[in-house]
Amino acid sequence: MSAPRTIAVLPGDFIGPEVIDATVETLEAVADRHGVELAFERHPFGGAAIDAHGVPLPDVARDACSRADAVLMGSAGGPQDHPWNRLPRERRVESGILQLRKHLGVYANLRPVTVFPGLERLSPLKEEVARGTDLLIVRELTGGIYFGTPSEATSERGVSTMVYERYEVERIARTAFEAARLRGGAVTSVDKANVLDVSQFWRDVVVGVREAEFPDVSLDHLYVDNAAMQVARDPRQFDVVVTGNLFGDILSDLAAVIPGSLGVLPSASLGGSVGLFEPVHGSAPDIAGKGVANPVGTMLSAALLLRHGLDLPEAANDLTHAVRAALADDPTVDLGGSRGTRAFTDAVIAALPERARTPA
Ligand code: NAD
Ligand code: IPM
Ligand code: MN
Repeated sequence: MSAPRTIAVLPGDFIGPEVIDATVETLEAVADRHGVELAFERHPFGGAAIDAHGVPLPDVARDACSRADAVLMGSAGGPQDHPWNRLPRERRVESGILQLRKHLGVYANLRPVTVFPGLERLSPLKEEVARGTDLLIVRELTGGIYFGTPSEATSERGVSTMVYERYEVERIARTAFEAARLRGGAVTSVDKANVLDVSQFWRDVVVGVREAEFPDVSLDHLYVDNAAMQVARDPRQFDVVVTGNLFGDILSDLAAVIPGSLGVLPSASLGGSVGLFEPVHGSAPDIAGKGVANPVGTMLSAALLLRHGLDLPEAANDLTHAVRAALADDPTVDLGGSRGTRAFTDAVIAALPERARTPA
C-alpha cells in the first residue's frame, strides 16, 4: 500500500455524526477494495466544539483541516431555540462553518442535482418533469452578503452588506464555464440585477469573462425569483447555474427537492488549498437519534472527495454506483423506503464491487 491519505473529519452535531459514521464506513470499504489506505482524523466541530472548547472551530480542528488531503464535514448547528444561537455572532456554530470555508479559501461550492435513471419515482415532482434532471449549482462561497461589511444587529437597526469584488466574480464565473465545457456547454447566471447594483456588477463581469475566455459556452441570465420558479417547473432546462452565496444557498435547498430529499444532495467546495466536502443539509435536530438520517448526501460528498480531493475517480464511481444501487433496491425512510441509516449503509457496502487490490 502507498502512504495513507489523510482525511480530516468534522462530524458536527445531531445527525452530523450519524451520517459521518455511515460514510466513513463506506469510505473504508471502498478504499480497501482499491488498495488505498485512509487515515481519518476526527475533531469536534460546531456545537460540539462550543461545548468542549468554547468556540465552533478550535485551532486544532482548523489546523488538522489545513494539513489534510481533504476535509469531510457532517453538519453542525442546533434547533432554533438552542443556547448556541444566543452566543455572540462570531462564536456561533454557523460562524465556524464560514470561518472554515474562508480559512481553506474554498470559494467554489459545487452542488450537483441529479435524478438517477430509474429513481424518478422518488421525486415529489411529476416523474416526467424530474426525469433526466442533471444540473450543477456553482455557488460562490467565500464572499457576498455572508462576509460583507458593515454587518451588525443593534436594538434599532440590522445591517448586512452584499459586496462582490471583480476577482471574486471572475474566478467563480471561470469555474462555472469550465464545468459547463465538460457537461452541456450552457451556463445560467442567477442574480437580481433588476434591483441590486451588486447584481448588475455580477452580471457585467460574468458577460465579460465569457466574451474574453469562453465564447464557446452559452450564457443566459435569470433573476433569482424567476430562477426559483423555473427550477421547480422544468429543472431539465438547466446545465450549470452560477450564482452568489445567498442565492446559491436558497436555490440549492429548493433543487434538493427534485431528487426527493434534502438528505441526498452532496457538495464539494474547491478552489483553495484543501477541498471541503459536506452534504447540503443541516443537522436535522428533529430526526436526530432515531436512526433514520439519510446518509446519501454525505456518501455522495465522499465520492466527490475521492474524485476531486484524492484523485481516485474509479473509487468515486464505485461508491456512487453502490449508493444508486442501494437506493434503487429500497431507499431510506425520508424517500418513502423502509431503510434506516444502518440498513442503508450495509446495503451500500454490499453493493460495492470487488476489485483487484493493486495499490493505487
Ligand atoms: P436541516 O437541513 O437540518 O433540516 C431541514 C429538514 O430536512 C428537516 O425536516 C430535516 O429532518 C430534513 N433533513 C435534513 N437532512 C436530512 C437527512 N440527511 N435525512 C433525512 N432528513 C433530513 O435545516 P434546519 O432545520 O433549517 O437547520 C438545522 C441546523 O443545521 C441549523 O442550526 C442550521 O444552521 C444548520 N445547518 C448546518 C449546515 C451545515 O453544517 N453545513 C447546513 C444547513 C443548515
Ligand atoms: C449550507 C448552510 C450554511 C450556509 C449555513 C449553516 C452557514 O445552510 O451549507 O447550505 O448558509 O452556507
Ligand atoms: Mn443551506
